[in-house]
Amino acid sequence: MTKTVVVAGGAGFIGCNFVRAVLARTGWHVVVLDKLTYAGNLLNLADVAARPRYAFVRGDIGDPRVVRPLLESCRPFAIVNFAAESHVDRSIDGPRSFLETNVVGTFELLDAARSFWLQLKDGEREAFRFLHVSTDEVYGSLGETGHFTEETAYSPNSPYAASKAASDHFVHAYHQTYGMPTVVTNCSNNYGPFQFPEKLIPLTILKALSGKSLPIYGDGGNVRDWLYVEDHCAALLTVLQHGRVGVKYNIGGRSERTNLQVVAEVCAALDHLLPSQHNPALMSSGISNYFDLRTFVRDRPGHDRRYAIDSSLVEKELRWTARVGFHEGIRNTVEWYVQNSEWCHAVCGGTYGGERLGRAVEHGAP
Ligand SMILES: NC(=O)c1ccc[n+]([C@@H]2O[C@H](COP(=O)([O-])OP(=O)(O)OC[C@H]3O[C@@H](n4cnc5c(N)ncnc54)[C@H](O)[C@@H]3O)[C@@H](O)[C@H]2O)c1
Repeated sequence: MTKTVVVAGGAGFIGCNFVRAVLARTGWHVVVLDKLTYAGNLLNLADVAARPRYAFVRGDIGDPRVVRPLLESCRPFAIVNFAAESHVDRSIDGPRSFLETNVVGTFELLDAARSFWLQLKDGEREAFRFLHVSTDEVYGSLGETGHFTEETAYSPNSPYAASKAASDHFVHAYHQTYGMPTVVTNCSNNYGPFQFPEKLIPLTILKALSGKSLPIYGDGGNVRDWLYVEDHCAALLTVLQHGRVGVKYNIGGRSERTNLQVVAEVCAALDHLLPSQHNPALMSSGISNYFDLRTFVRDRPGHDRRYAIDSSLVEKELRWTARVGFHEGIRNTVEWYVQNSEWCHAVCGGTYGGERLGRAVEHGAP
């Protein structure tokens, strides 16, 4: 019998790339469960919509009236949870939806999964997996040296990170308490096709293409460890198939960059692909390279200085390794956004125009 995986949040950035990876590399059926918030869009799945092994259900992971019957009807061997509010800046402006989806929503999904799992026959019960996709942001901030390992204590600093940390704890607790076969992954910053244009890399690409200034928070020295989204999806598939239950796996690209370096790399790729002299938005501006558009803006409140992931556990135990280097990944990404301007326009849908988010004005900022 063909196996089915439920992909919650599969219409978002990483989720849609994961759906593609599953359809390409396995024979499984995929059922995407997604609420379609501003960050989720069926355009992200348009190329797989007609595939017979794919189905879509619109719904909230926090709504048991949707989730429980769905599990009963499609009887998955695994649930992979990407569904979340995912933007740190938005969590500063409005943390409540982060609590509702990331904490309460994950709890409801987990609890529905537990009821379903308990009814499974022997054999099926052991084979079942609940894979919860999380972030390195739960660990807090590093100094100039060191890496997050799976043993690093959680110390979340943003409402987003706090909500993901809480959900990770629930998933782990369901393994410890009920013996449910759960796995948690904590991954570093992803980039690649289909990322909603509020995040650093697509925002920089789109602003540069339209000749607007490129905002860099603070001194631009905050460091993140960047991973191409297809590498992350490959790691998740590996963890789903071969990871040990009750274990958490860190996933990272061994590719630390400051924000300023990231913006410089994006601009260099744009200079190569569409030199500013040939870009109508910049032709008469006197700007000869996109990096000249950079501008330093007030920092994000509570901005963690540095993240770096030690991914040696998943590399050694499951033989996963990141394949796409940062230079190549950025070239691919920039090319994709240049070629998919209609997608960018459609997903923003008049509701997001690249404006600054997460200023926390109520704390006295101008
Ligand atoms: N983007 C990154 O760099 C990164 C890194 C590490 C971990 N993660 C984690 O990976 C997951 C996916 O991240 P992303 O960047 O693809 O996020 P995203 O914001 O692009 O997508 C989130 C998806 O979840 C859906 N969703 C939101 N609330 C929902 C709800 N209540 N019920 C059902 N669906 C809902 C949205 O419609 C959207 O399709 C998140 O859990 C995030 O914390 C992201």
